[in-house]
Amino acid sequence: MVASQVGASILAEGGNAIDAAVATGFALAVTLPQAGNLGGGGFMLIYLADENRTVAIDYREMAPSAATKDMFLNAQGEVDAGKARFSIQSSGVPGTVAGLVHVQEKYGNLSLKKVMAPAIKLARSGIRVTVALSESLSSHRRLLQSNAGAKQYFFKKDGADYAVGDVLKQRDLAASLKRISAQGAEGFYQGKTAELFLAQMERTGGLITQADLDNYAVVERSPICGDYRDHRVCAMPPPSSGGIHLVQMLNILEGWDLKGLGHNSADYIHRLVESMRRAYADRSQYLGDADFFPVPVETLINKDYGRVLRDKIDLDHASRSADIGPGLKRTPESTETTHFSVWDDWGNVVSNTYTLNFSYGSGIAVMGSGFLLNNEMDDFSARPGSPNGFGLVGGVANSIEAGKRPLSSMTPTIVFDPQGKPLLVTGSPGGSTIITVVLQLILNVLEFDMGIAEASAASRIHHQWLPDDVYYESGISPDTLRKLREMGHLVSDGAAVLGSTQSIQSNGKGVLFGATDSRAHGAGVAIQP
Ligand code: GLY
Repeated sequence: MVASQVGASILAEGGNAIDAAVATGFALAVTLPQAGNLGGGGFMLIYLADENRTVAIDYREMAPSAATKDMFLNAQGEVDAGKARFSIQSSGVPGTVAGLVHVQEKYGNLSLKKVMAPAIKLARSGIRVTVALSESLSSHRRLLQSNAGAKQYFFKKDGADYAVGDVLKQRDLAASLKRISAQGAEGFYQGKTAELFLAQMERTGGLITQADLDNYAVVERSPICGDYRDHRVCAMPPPSSGGIHLVQMLNILEGWDLKGLGHNSADYIHRLVESMRRAYADRSQYLGDADFFPVPVETLINKDYGRVLRDKIDLDHASRSADIGPGLKRTPESTETTHFSVWDDWGNVVSNTYTLNFSYGSGIAVMGSGFLLNNEMDDFSARPGSPNGFGLVGGVANSIEAGKRPLSSMTPTIVFDPQGKPLLVTGSPGGSTIITVVLQLILNVLEFDMGIAEASAASRIHHQWLPDDVYYESGISPDTLRKLREMGHLVSDGAAVLGSTQSIQSNGKGVLFGATDSRAHGAGVAIQP
């Protein structure tokens, strides 16, 4: 909530949505250490009202130049999950600072100093520890206390937990933020912060070098867009799988009268699951960094391909994931992340999702700098067919290569009305569930006419091909679950929590409705004072 208020205060000072997003992004690095970050990466979708143009900003981490395909395999050729997820080598070259500074300098109205001032103040003067932060830190105590830096930054001097209401000051982080505010991206990728970063790498066997930091590049990409009935949906292109599979699933689903089936009826959920199963099967084979692998984007988002997949779906019986391979063979890809959405008076819209990967990333802090390192290298496919930390399997398309970006599911999204004006901006954390969570939020609004608060709160389901399980949230009725089982679905034992959307919806007449997800603790909607 504090970071949202920071964004709103920047709007009040004459900033645009991009200034507010950058201010929020840096503030979250202070207030939400499990996901807000300087040491991670992400994606931002920006709608520029003046130009009527949407641009996708890729500030995803890059594999260091010394990274190799088999770097996380042990002597037996199996994936060493500990090394892939919790070692210094699990970190890709961070992109967050380059990304936020890039958009601020290119698209913002205010100075970087001005938009970063609130984050620096929060880090220096301290934040009040909330229930959510206190619980999060203590539940990750083992991970964080196993690293000297993280232990120093996130626990009291005697090693005790911060209690609700305590003040957490982050002086090293404030100094790192100050260097960025004074020198831009150079204040992170060079000079004192880079020295501390490289010293951490050298002390503990990390691979990232000064050349890797120098070579980090933000990329402006064209978004993936598709039409769902009379609305245009735009989201992130590779190295995220989000946009492609969101559009692919919408293409499959568009052929049915979903509204007539009824929201969260067994027949509706059956169609969702079968669409998800097929999209995630394709993800496992065809998705990776398109700068390194020829991702068949146009084919995957083609309406004809959606129809081919739809026609194979049995409307009465579940298919088995073991029988569903990546579809193109027959013709020629948590709570651990954080999302925010911003909309300004000029009509500019920002949808941003960024992350350290798992909560607190690798759990390793750069000593002296106050920030944690990501463990995004685990989003690569360390060995084709072996699941990563989200149970996702991948193939050669997403194998580790120097300079490559690991495949993501982050799906910052903007939906446009039939006149081409932004209608809805949304996104979610949740690892592999992000794409299906965003899909259901969009369908709740476009298909089931829900307002944004109802659409955000409605119970969700998730399927990702492998494992062949239907995950569901409490609120899906026992009758519906029974019917799904009777159709042959393998429904997981017990309810899950799936994602946490942060959205803004326009009524098309200048009125905006913001909705924070009731699943999120500590998130909030802030309005320009
Ligand atoms: N680290 C999760 C994702 O990018 O999908």
